[in-house]
Amino acid sequence: MEAEARDMTRAWVLHPDVAGRENPRPPKRQLDEALGLAQALPGLDVVGTTLVPLPKPRPGHLFGSGKTQELKALFADNAVELVLVDGPVTPVQQRNLEKAWNCKLLDRTSLILEIFSDRARTKEGVLQVEMAALAYQRTRLVRAWTHLERQRGALGFVGGPGETQIEADRRAIDDQLIRLRRQLTKVSKTRGLHRASRKKVPFPVVALVGYTNAGKSTLFNRLTGAKVLAKDMLFATLDPTMRAMELPDGTDIILSDTVGFISGLPTQLVAAFRATLEEVLDADLVIHVRDISHPESEAEAEDVKQILGDLGVPQDAAIVEVWNKLDEVPAGERAAVLRKAERSRDVVALSALTGEGLDALAQKIAHQLAPGKQEEVLTLTFGDGRRRAWLFEHTEILAEEPGEDGLQLRVRWSDRTKAAFCAL
Ligand code: GTP
Repeated sequence: MEAEARDMTRAWVLHPDVAGRENPRPPKRQLDEALGLAQALPGLDVVGTTLVPLPKPRPGHLFGSGKTQELKALFADNAVELVLVDGPVTPVQQRNLEKAWNCKLLDRTSLILEIFSDRARTKEGVLQVEMAALAYQRTRLVRAWTHLERQRGALGFVGGPGETQIEADRRAIDDQLIRLRRQLTKVSKTRGLHRASRKKVPFPVVALVGYTNAGKSTLFNRLTGAKVLAKDMLFATLDPTMRAMELPDGTDIILSDTVGFISGLPTQLVAAFRATLEEVLDADLVIHVRDISHPESEAEAEDVKQILGDLGVPQDAAIVEVWNKLDEVPAGERAAVLRKAERSRDVVALSALTGEGLDALAQKIAHQLAPGKQEEVLTLTFGDGRRRAWLFEHTEILAEEPGEDGLQLRVRWSDRTKAAFCAL
């Protein structure tokens, strides 16, 4: 354990609360989220976090000189080696702060890139992360050239060594980007073939999307009985994972787990991950998994909807919302959440952890995928437990209440299921 702690990099998370910047989330929550991101990176020992009010970002050091000194002392006292700044930091600010604090510094985009790179599991994922990282690095070369010049030593080329070096670096990055793009096209083509062959199997595809840590992988495992990496870590899933499952009405579907979304995901990253999320565009049904126990659940849902829109998912696409982590909702609020879920058309409240509500979700999926089915009200005698059990197992029960002559059940079923029931 001690040896492990020694190998870990001591990190500190800063969230600059820039005055006047529009963000619906309270700064403390943003700091918590940044901490979550930092903890998702193996090898980091986050020893502290600070919310820094920032009336006006300074071009040189981002923070004012008093604050910079104050933080320097804090980092020295805590033997901090790496500072994670939850926001954009220019290359100049980065260089100056690293010097002032005598620590390494990562800004938010670099941190997300690190996490993506750590989580990439397929060839395609790895290539996409590399491309995004290079593209980001390229934009940062421009103003960092004096730094590079110093690092490499002045070689005395005509026209200024720094500029020459910068050009060379940029060209090298461009070459590398071209190579990566070519490889990615190849990998995507292979995936396209896989998809095409899957299309021949007439299984509807259902894609799980949602904010990072909403519980997509846990739900995926629960529904399919598969083991996919599910940890209390952000971005446990980077590449879509597909598994077949059977719905209660006997329909086979392919369930697809996707990368978690996050607010403030740099645009160039969203674009880089578009191919990874192609499954979502192709899906017959999208399931938006939400952590309903999270205080920022609404804001997270808005972020997810916006990213889905950016990805090109049509406004009128079939989407079912899963309100996950029902077990985490305080007892006093539970009834209200359930009522609200029941009143909303395409919402299922459940807990992927305890399994509560999973049947309702499977039925909702079946319902969405089978527009040819019809609703009917049946009356069973009160003692007819066998046929009632059969209905619960094979059809979607929309309502059940005692009537005068027996139990009234409103069911949704296909002609085939109805015929099977009548033959019982
Ligand atoms: P990303 O890969 O980051 O997008 O995350 P994800 O949405 O796939 O979440 P994941 O399934 O990895 O779950 C995140 C954490 O939430 C894990 O610690 C799960 O155990 C926990 N979790 C998932 N579902 C539930 C639930 O219904 N109740 C509770 N209490 N915890 C849950």
